Amino acid sequence: MTDKRVDIHLIAAARPNFMKIAPLLHALNRTDWCRPVLVHTGQHYDPQMSDVFLRQLGLPAPDIHLGIGSGSHAEQTAGVMVAYERVCLADPPRWVVVAGDVNSTAACTLVAKKLCLPVAHLEAGLRSGDRTMPEEINRLVTDAIADLLWTPSEDADANLLREGVPPDKIARIGNIMIDSFEMLRETIAACRYHDGLGLYPGGFGIVTMHRPANVDDPLALAAVIAQLERVDRRLPLVFPVHPRTRRRLFEFGLADRLGSARLIEPLGYVEFMSLVAAARLVITDSGGVQEETTYLGIPCLTVRDTTERPITISQGTNRLVPIDAIESAVDEVLGDRWERRGPPQLWDGHAADRAVASLRARLG
Ligand code: UD1
Ligand code: UDP
Repeated sequence: MTDKRVDIHLIAAARPNFMKIAPLLHALNRTDWCRPVLVHTGQHYDPQMSDVFLRQLGLPAPDIHLGIGSGSHAEQTAGVMVAYERVCLADPPRWVVVAGDVNSTAACTLVAKKLCLPVAHLEAGLRSGDRTMPEEINRLVTDAIADLLWTPSEDADANLLREGVPPDKIARIGNIMIDSFEMLRETIAACRYHDGLGLYPGGFGIVTMHRPANVDDPLALAAVIAQLERVDRRLPLVFPVHPRTRRRLFEFGLADRLGSARLIEPLGYVEFMSLVAAARLVITDSGGVQEETTYLGIPCLTVRDTTERPITISQGTNRLVPIDAIESAVDEVLGDRWERRGPPQLWDGHAADRAVASLRARLG
């Protein structure tokens, strides 16, 4: 008997993609009409930036690995395009699903659309309004040409409508990263990663930092480190360091400045979420971490001028903090002067089911 299931490519590339793709892959696997094909572009490749997430999130080894690796924006984007076009020409999928806002997201969308393959964008409609961020360009390009825009929140729908996207292309499914957290909630609770670091719940802060604006400029990174040194004297900090940031810390001679602050390797998802859930606060410039802290009610200091996730400020625990105000913002958290509200609508662990229903409806 021939297999009547349709092939759907799920594109994963970098750390923040895996927790978005995993719930969808699992939900698609439960259907009898679809065969999810995991395509890894290889944008992130260190075991702690890639393999650990496949393993912890129950993802299979990628069906297709493009092995692109690092490079300039043009090199990376073009590399993914050339390799992914070959894949699609040899065996075109019925749909392509891309996630988030990394270079591979835009690259695979461009390839698929030029071959007239339909594309669904997971986490569509987010806008920081800052076109100096490479991610904003990737979001604009992807949303302009994708066929199905899966949004996490009302503000994302509004952004797309304002840009002239026809309403029937937009489906609000909620925040799919929360599905990953709920899937692993018990494992995360049992992990108690802080125990091994000699820390107790509520007695430490976490730092993540990798935006070019904060880490590629020596003055900005030195100013961040100076603030963190002061905070660490009052609240021990744990800093799992992104590879981009590690490189810069050494290049700028800042690697040994943080004293007792725990500079550690990037963590697996379970270990990281175990720390976030037990932390007093998080200092970050990550996109996803702003959402996870809002979901868990943990104060989040986002060291950026803008956010593409304003709902984490209006309905969550997030606040934008200039570099030189990190220490005073920490004071406000420690003095219990920090607003916390509940998680936004549809951040409920069932976004993947809504995505599958939306895709099924499009397939007819
Ligand atoms: C990328 C995304 C960013 C996302 C981040 C998540 C783009 C434009 N940027 O930024 O939106 O927030 O991932 O973490 O797509 N490196 C390693 N090992 C790895 C991966 C990277 O050592 O496994 C180093 C390399 O020196 C590389 C640098 O990190 O040049 C930057 O990697 P890259 O993927 O280009 O950008 P990120 O800063 O990771
Ligand atoms: N994360 C992780 N280990 C870490 C740092 C982050 O598992 O050491 C997870 C985090 O929980 C979130 C995702 O990685 O789900 C966010 O990735 P990142 O900050 O690299 O990318 P962004 O969201 O900024 O694009």
